[in-house]
Amino acid sequence: MADGYSETVMTHVERPRNRGVIENPDGAGIERNPVCGDLLTLTIRVADGRIAEARQEVKGCTGSVAASSILTEMVTGATLEAAAAITAQGIVDALDGLPPHRLHSAALAASALRKALAFYRAKQE
Ligand code: FES
Repeated sequence: MADGYSETVMTHVERPRNRGVIENPDGAGIERNPVCGDLLTLTIRVADGRIAEARQEVKGCTGSVAASSILTEMVTGATLEAAAAITAQGIVDALDGLPPHRLHSAALAASALRKALAFYRAKQE
């Protein structure tokens, strides 16, 4: 563990997954933590009721980079229902924990996902 971060966190920080932004996405969620300023843009592509692709672009701390990265892995291939059920705690668990002062990184990622899914639903109406 480095500075209280799990090996899983460090793996994602060293090699963040699915970086970038999908052009003309089916859903997009932009979330900024008003206190620390970390900023996450999550874009998704949906096919047959599942998230076929997810990309993240994050400007922020170690926790945010890791949470955003693992979130894209968690949602890729997931049904929209399963993706909607992902919580901040689920992201923390998938990262094998976050230090207490970085738990809000997972909340940032979960919130961006909520927004991306809401964007997608709004587009369908
Ligand atoms: S320091 Fe606040 S989410 Fe990273």
